[in-house]
Amino acid sequence: MAIQKVGVVGFGQMGSGIAQVCAMAGFDVIAREIDQKFIDSGMKRIDGSLARVVKSGRMSEDDAKAARGRVRGTTSLAEFADRDLVIEAVIEVMDAKREVFAELDRVCPPSTIFVSNTSSLTIIEIASATKRPDRFAGLHFFNPPVVMQLVEIVRALTTSDATVEALRDFVTRAGHQPVVCKDTPGFIVNRLMVPIMLEAVRALEQGVATVDDIDKAVKLGLRHPMGPFELIDYTGVDINYHVANVFFEEFKDPKWAPPALLKRMYLAGRLGVKTGRGFYEYDESGKKKS
Ligand code: 3HC
Repeated sequence: MAIQKVGVVGFGQMGSGIAQVCAMAGFDVIAREIDQKFIDSGMKRIDGSLARVVKSGRMSEDDAKAARGRVRGTTSLAEFADRDLVIEAVIEVMDAKREVFAELDRVCPPSTIFVSNTSSLTIIEIASATKRPDRFAGLHFFNPPVVMQLVEIVRALTTSDATVEALRDFVTRAGHQPVVCKDTPGFIVNRLMVPIMLEAVRALEQGVATVDDIDKAVKLGLRHPMGPFELIDYTGVDINYHVANVFFEEFKDPKWAPPALLKRMYLAGRLGVKTGRGFYEYDESGKKKS
Protein backbone atom coordinates (compact mmCIF):
# COMPACT_ATOMS: atom_id res chain seq x y z
CA MET A 1 0.00 0.00 0.00
CA ALA A 2 1.39 3.42 -0.97
CA ILE A 3 2.25 5.84 1.82
CA GLN A 4 -0.46 8.50 2.43
CA LYS A 5 -0.24 9.50 6.10
CA VAL A 6 3.05 10.75 7.48
CA GLY A 7 4.18 11.40 11.04
CA VAL A 8 7.17 13.64 11.76
CA VAL A 9 8.82 13.51 15.19
CA GLY A 10 10.79 16.67 15.97
CA PHE A 11 9.57 19.95 14.50
CA GLY A 12 12.81 21.94 14.42
CA GLN A 13 14.57 23.26 11.33
CA MET A 14 14.69 19.87 9.57
CA GLY A 15 11.46 18.37 10.93
CA SER A 16 9.35 21.40 9.97
CA GLY A 17 10.99 21.53 6.52
CA ILE A 18 10.30 17.83 5.95
CA ALA A 19 6.70 18.21 7.16
CA GLN A 20 6.29 21.11 4.72
CA VAL A 21 7.69 19.09 1.79
CA CYS A 22 5.23 16.27 2.56
CA ALA A 23 2.25 18.63 2.95
CA MET A 24 3.10 20.49 -0.28
CA ALA A 25 3.04 17.12 -2.07
CA GLY A 26 -0.44 16.32 -0.69
CA PHE A 27 0.43 13.99 2.20
CA ASP A 28 -1.48 14.25 5.47
CA VAL A 29 1.06 15.18 8.18
CA ILE A 30 1.10 15.07 11.99
CA ALA A 31 4.18 16.56 13.64
CA ARG A 32 5.07 15.91 17.24
CA GLU A 33 7.08 18.11 19.57
CA ILE A 34 7.57 17.90 23.32
CA ASP A 35 6.09 21.34 23.98
CA GLN A 36 3.42 23.49 22.26
CA LYS A 37 5.89 26.37 21.94
CA PHE A 38 8.06 24.28 19.57
CA ILE A 39 4.97 23.38 17.50
CA ASP A 40 4.18 27.09 17.24
CA SER A 41 7.74 27.98 16.15
CA GLY A 42 7.78 25.12 13.58
CA MET A 43 4.46 26.33 12.14
CA LYS A 44 5.86 29.86 11.96
CA ARG A 45 8.87 28.53 10.03
CA ILE A 46 6.52 26.75 7.61
CA ASP A 47 4.45 29.92 7.14
CA GLY A 48 7.61 31.90 6.33
CA SER A 49 8.86 29.27 3.91
CA LEU A 50 5.47 28.87 2.18
CA ALA A 51 5.37 32.65 1.72
CA ARG A 52 8.74 32.44 -0.10
CA VAL A 53 7.45 29.57 -2.25
CA VAL A 54 4.39 31.62 -3.22
CA LYS A 55 6.44 34.79 -3.80
CA SER A 56 8.78 32.95 -6.17
CA GLY A 57 5.77 31.66 -8.15
CA ARG A 58 6.30 27.98 -7.39
CA MET A 59 2.86 27.58 -5.80
CA SER A 60 -0.40 29.51 -5.75
CA GLU A 61 -1.58 31.13 -2.52
CA ASP A 62 -4.57 28.74 -2.40
CA ASP A 63 -2.37 25.66 -2.80
CA ALA A 64 -0.01 26.95 -0.09
CA LYS A 65 -2.99 27.45 2.22
CA ALA A 66 -4.17 23.91 1.50
CA ALA A 67 -0.65 22.57 2.21
CA ARG A 68 -0.56 24.45 5.52
CA GLY A 69 -3.93 22.86 6.39
CA ARG A 70 -2.49 19.36 5.92
CA VAL A 71 0.02 19.82 8.81
CA ARG A 72 -1.20 19.32 12.36
CA GLY A 73 0.92 19.54 15.50
CA THR A 74 0.67 17.34 18.58
CA THR A 75 2.59 16.72 21.77
CA SER A 76 1.57 13.04 21.87
CA LEU A 77 3.01 10.12 19.91
CA ALA A 78 -0.22 8.23 20.65
CA GLU A 79 -1.74 10.10 17.69
CA PHE A 80 0.63 8.31 15.30
CA ALA A 81 -1.37 5.03 15.36
CA ASP A 82 -2.75 5.55 11.82
CA ARG A 83 0.51 6.71 10.15
CA ASP A 84 1.93 4.80 7.15
CA LEU A 85 5.38 6.37 7.57
CA VAL A 86 7.07 8.02 10.56
CA ILE A 87 10.07 10.27 9.96
CA GLU A 88 12.15 11.04 13.06
CA ALA A 89 14.13 14.30 13.13
CA VAL A 90 14.95 14.78 16.83
CA ILE A 91 18.30 15.67 18.39
CA GLU A 92 21.35 13.70 17.14
CA VAL A 93 21.62 11.60 20.30
CA MET A 94 21.32 7.83 19.96
CA ASP A 95 19.42 7.26 23.23
CA ALA A 96 16.89 9.98 22.37
CA LYS A 97 16.21 8.41 18.97
CA ARG A 98 15.96 4.86 20.36
CA GLU A 99 13.52 6.06 23.02
CA VAL A 100 11.26 7.69 20.40
CA PHE A 101 11.23 4.56 18.24
CA ALA A 102 10.65 2.17 21.14
CA GLU A 103 7.50 4.15 21.97
CA LEU A 104 6.43 4.38 18.31
CA ASP A 105 6.87 0.60 18.00
CA ARG A 106 4.22 0.14 20.69
CA VAL A 107 1.85 2.72 19.15
CA CYS A 108 2.03 2.01 15.40
CA PRO A 109 0.81 -1.10 13.57
CA PRO A 110 3.46 -3.47 12.15
CA SER A 111 2.88 -2.09 8.64
CA THR A 112 4.13 1.41 9.51
CA ILE A 113 7.57 2.16 8.08
CA PHE A 114 9.99 3.98 10.39
CA VAL A 115 12.83 6.19 9.16
CA SER A 116 15.39 8.42 10.81
CA ASN A 117 16.67 11.66 9.29
CA THR A 118 19.96 11.26 11.17
CA SER A 119 23.02 12.85 9.50
CA SER A 120 25.50 10.36 10.84
CA LEU A 121 24.25 7.85 13.40
CA THR A 122 24.15 4.15 12.54
CA ILE A 123 20.71 3.15 11.29
CA ILE A 124 20.84 -0.45 12.54
CA GLU A 125 21.61 0.77 16.07
CA ILE A 126 18.47 2.94 16.03
CA ALA A 127 16.40 0.21 14.32
CA SER A 128 17.29 -2.32 17.01
CA ALA A 129 15.12 -0.38 19.47
CA THR A 130 12.13 -1.73 17.48
CA LYS A 131 10.74 -5.12 16.47
CA ARG A 132 10.58 -4.09 12.79
CA PRO A 133 14.19 -3.80 11.56
CA ASP A 134 13.02 -4.84 8.07
CA ARG A 135 10.67 -1.81 7.93
CA PHE A 136 13.31 0.61 9.15
CA ALA A 137 15.73 2.80 7.15
CA GLY A 138 17.46 6.15 7.06
CA LEU A 139 15.79 8.95 5.07
CA HIS A 140 18.23 11.82 4.96
CA PHE A 141 16.94 15.20 3.76
CA PHE A 142 19.13 18.27 3.23
CA ASN A 143 18.72 21.76 4.59
CA PRO A 144 16.54 23.55 3.49
CA PRO A 145 14.41 20.49 2.59
CA VAL A 146 11.99 22.58 0.53
CA VAL A 147 14.81 23.64 -1.80
CA MET A 148 17.30 20.75 -1.67
CA GLN A 149 16.09 18.03 -4.02
CA LEU A 150 18.18 15.11 -2.77
CA VAL A 151 17.05 12.49 -0.26
CA GLU A 152 19.40 9.65 0.73
CA ILE A 153 17.59 6.36 1.43
CA VAL A 154 19.89 4.56 3.83
CA ARG A 155 19.59 0.84 3.74
CA ALA A 156 20.54 -1.00 6.96
CA LEU A 157 21.60 -4.66 6.75
CA THR A 158 18.06 -5.59 7.80
CA THR A 159 16.03 -3.19 5.58
CA SER A 160 13.79 -5.13 3.17
CA ASP A 161 13.59 -4.55 -0.58
CA ALA A 162 9.88 -3.69 -0.15
CA THR A 163 10.76 -0.93 2.34
CA VAL A 164 13.38 0.58 0.02
CA GLU A 165 10.90 0.54 -2.88
CA ALA A 166 8.12 2.11 -0.75
CA LEU A 167 10.53 4.88 0.28
CA ARG A 168 11.75 5.43 -3.27
CA ASP A 169 8.11 5.84 -4.35
CA PHE A 170 7.40 8.18 -1.40
CA VAL A 171 10.41 10.43 -2.08
CA THR A 172 9.51 10.69 -5.76
CA ARG A 173 5.88 11.55 -4.96
CA ALA A 174 7.18 14.16 -2.50
CA GLY A 175 8.82 15.83 -5.50
CA HIS A 176 12.38 14.94 -4.49
CA GLN A 177 15.15 12.75 -5.94
CA PRO A 178 16.16 9.55 -4.11
CA VAL A 179 19.55 7.84 -4.01
CA VAL A 180 20.09 4.57 -2.14
CA CYS A 181 23.19 3.93 -0.06
CA LYS A 182 24.53 1.61 2.62
CA ASP A 183 24.36 2.25 6.35
CA THR A 184 27.89 3.68 6.63
CA PRO A 185 29.06 6.86 8.44
CA GLY A 186 27.90 10.01 6.66
CA PHE A 187 26.19 8.01 3.89
CA ILE A 188 27.21 9.68 0.59
CA VAL A 189 26.98 13.45 0.96
CA ASN A 190 28.30 13.99 4.49
CA ARG A 191 31.15 11.58 3.84
CA LEU A 192 32.28 13.91 1.05
CA MET A 193 31.22 17.24 2.58
CA VAL A 194 32.44 16.93 6.19
CA PRO A 195 36.15 16.64 5.23
CA ILE A 196 35.84 19.99 3.39
CA MET A 197 34.30 21.62 6.48
CA LEU A 198 36.90 20.19 8.86
CA GLU A 199 39.79 21.10 6.57
CA ALA A 200 38.44 24.66 6.24
CA VAL A 201 38.49 25.04 10.05
CA ARG A 202 42.03 23.62 10.20
CA ALA A 203 43.13 26.03 7.45
CA LEU A 204 41.68 28.89 9.50
CA GLU A 205 43.44 27.65 12.65
CA GLN A 206 46.73 27.51 10.74
CA GLY A 207 46.29 31.06 9.46
CA VAL A 208 46.11 30.02 5.81
CA ALA A 209 43.43 32.65 5.10
CA THR A 210 40.53 34.48 6.71
CA VAL A 211 36.99 33.09 7.11
CA ASP A 212 35.81 35.45 4.36
CA ASP A 213 38.56 34.52 1.92
CA ILE A 214 38.19 30.75 2.46
CA ASP A 215 34.45 31.07 1.79
CA LYS A 216 35.04 33.31 -1.20
CA ALA A 217 37.59 30.86 -2.62
CA VAL A 218 35.22 27.91 -2.36
CA LYS A 219 32.26 29.82 -3.81
CA LEU A 220 34.17 31.29 -6.74
CA GLY A 221 36.73 28.50 -7.25
CA LEU A 222 34.40 25.51 -6.85
CA ARG A 223 31.06 27.18 -7.59
CA HIS A 224 29.56 25.98 -4.30
CA PRO A 225 26.51 28.11 -3.38
CA MET A 226 27.91 28.65 0.13
CA GLY A 227 31.44 28.65 1.53
CA PRO A 228 32.30 26.05 4.21
CA PHE A 229 31.96 28.53 7.09
CA GLU A 230 28.63 29.83 5.81
CA LEU A 231 27.46 26.23 5.50
CA ILE A 232 28.66 25.27 9.00
CA ASP A 233 26.80 28.28 10.41
CA TYR A 234 23.73 27.42 8.32
CA THR A 235 23.56 23.74 9.29
CA GLY A 236 24.79 24.42 12.85
CA VAL A 237 28.21 24.23 14.56
CA ASP A 238 26.68 21.69 16.97
CA ILE A 239 25.52 19.39 14.16
CA ASN A 240 28.92 19.53 12.44
CA TYR A 241 30.73 18.93 15.73
CA HIS A 242 28.55 15.89 16.54
CA VAL A 243 28.91 14.49 13.02
CA ALA A 244 32.73 14.80 13.16
CA ASN A 245 32.73 13.01 16.52
CA VAL A 246 30.65 10.15 15.11
CA PHE A 247 33.03 9.78 12.15
CA PHE A 248 36.05 9.84 14.47
CA GLU A 249 34.50 7.22 16.76
CA GLU A 250 33.83 4.96 13.79
CA PHE A 251 37.05 5.33 11.78
CA LYS A 252 39.52 6.14 14.61
CA ASP A 253 41.40 8.25 12.09
CA PRO A 254 42.60 11.75 13.18
CA LYS A 255 41.48 13.21 9.86
CA TRP A 256 37.89 13.00 11.16
CA ALA A 257 38.60 14.47 14.61
CA PRO A 258 36.76 17.78 15.19
CA PRO A 259 39.29 20.65 15.15
CA ALA A 260 39.91 22.39 18.49
CA LEU A 261 38.25 25.61 17.30
CA LEU A 262 35.02 23.82 16.30
CA LYS A 263 34.84 22.19 19.75
CA ARG A 264 35.38 25.50 21.51
CA MET A 265 32.76 27.26 19.40
CA TYR A 266 30.34 24.47 20.25
CA LEU A 267 31.12 24.80 23.97
CA ALA A 268 30.77 28.59 23.79
CA GLY A 269 27.31 28.25 22.23
CA ARG A 270 28.39 29.95 19.00
CA LEU A 271 26.28 27.58 16.94
CA GLY A 272 25.76 29.70 13.83
CA VAL A 273 22.57 31.24 12.43
CA LYS A 274 20.36 29.75 15.16
CA THR A 275 22.23 31.53 17.99
CA GLY A 276 23.04 34.69 16.04
CA ARG A 277 26.76 33.98 16.06
CA GLY A 278 29.06 31.36 14.59
CA PHE A 279 31.89 32.12 12.19
CA TYR A 280 29.78 35.15 11.22
CA GLU A 281 27.17 37.22 13.06
CA TYR A 282 23.47 37.20 12.13
CA ASP A 283 20.46 39.42 12.79
CA GLU A 284 17.13 38.15 14.18
CA SER A 285 15.88 37.14 10.74
CA GLY A 286 18.99 34.98 10.19
CA LYS A 287 20.58 37.43 7.76
CA LYS A 288 24.37 37.73 7.87
CA LYS A 289 25.48 41.08 9.34
CA SER A 290 27.90 42.86 7.06
N1 3HC B 1 11.91 27.98 1.94
C1 3HC B 1 11.43 28.18 0.70
N2 3HC B 1 12.19 28.63 -0.31
C2 3HC B 1 13.47 28.91 -0.03
C3 3HC B 1 14.04 28.72 1.24
C4 3HC B 1 13.20 28.23 2.27
N3 3HC B 1 13.63 28.02 3.51
N4 3HC B 1 15.35 29.06 1.19
C5 3HC B 1 15.61 29.46 -0.06
N5 3HC B 1 14.47 29.37 -0.81
C6 3HC B 1 14.30 29.65 -2.21
C7 3HC B 1 14.14 31.15 -2.47
O1 3HC B 1 12.80 31.54 -2.37
C8 3HC B 1 14.67 31.27 -3.89
O2 3HC B 1 13.66 30.83 -4.79
P1 3HC B 1 13.57 31.47 -6.29
O3 3HC B 1 14.94 31.34 -6.90
O4 3HC B 1 12.55 30.60 -6.97
O5 3HC B 1 13.14 32.87 -6.09
C9 3HC B 1 15.79 30.21 -3.93
O6 3HC B 1 15.50 29.27 -2.89
C10 3HC B 1 17.16 30.81 -3.69
O7 3HC B 1 17.13 31.47 -2.42
P2 3HC B 1 17.79 32.91 -2.14
O8 3HC B 1 17.77 33.71 -3.40
O9 3HC B 1 17.16 33.49 -0.93
O10 3HC B 1 19.24 32.63 -1.66
P3 3HC B 1 20.36 31.79 -2.32
O11 3HC B 1 20.33 31.86 -3.79
O12 3HC B 1 21.56 32.23 -1.59
O13 3HC B 1 20.01 30.29 -1.87
C11 3HC B 1 20.26 28.43 -0.49
C12 3HC B 1 19.87 29.91 -0.54
C13 3HC B 1 19.21 27.62 -1.26
C14 3HC B 1 20.23 28.01 0.98
C15 3HC B 1 21.67 28.27 -1.16
O14 3HC B 1 22.58 29.12 -0.55
C16 3HC B 1 22.18 26.87 -1.07
O15 3HC B 1 21.82 26.00 -1.85
N6 3HC B 1 23.11 26.62 -0.09
C17 3HC B 1 23.70 25.32 0.12
C18 3HC B 1 22.79 24.52 1.01
C19 3HC B 1 23.37 23.16 1.30
O16 3HC B 1 24.46 22.81 0.91
N7 3HC B 1 22.58 22.39 2.04
C20 3HC B 1 23.00 21.08 2.46
C21 3HC B 1 23.58 21.20 3.80
S1 3HC B 1 24.16 19.66 4.38
C22 3HC B 1 22.84 18.99 5.13
O17 3HC B 1 21.77 19.52 5.22
C23 3HC B 1 23.06 17.64 5.67
C24 3HC B 1 23.04 17.60 7.15
O18 3HC B 1 23.18 16.26 7.51
C25 3HC B 1 24.10 18.42 7.83
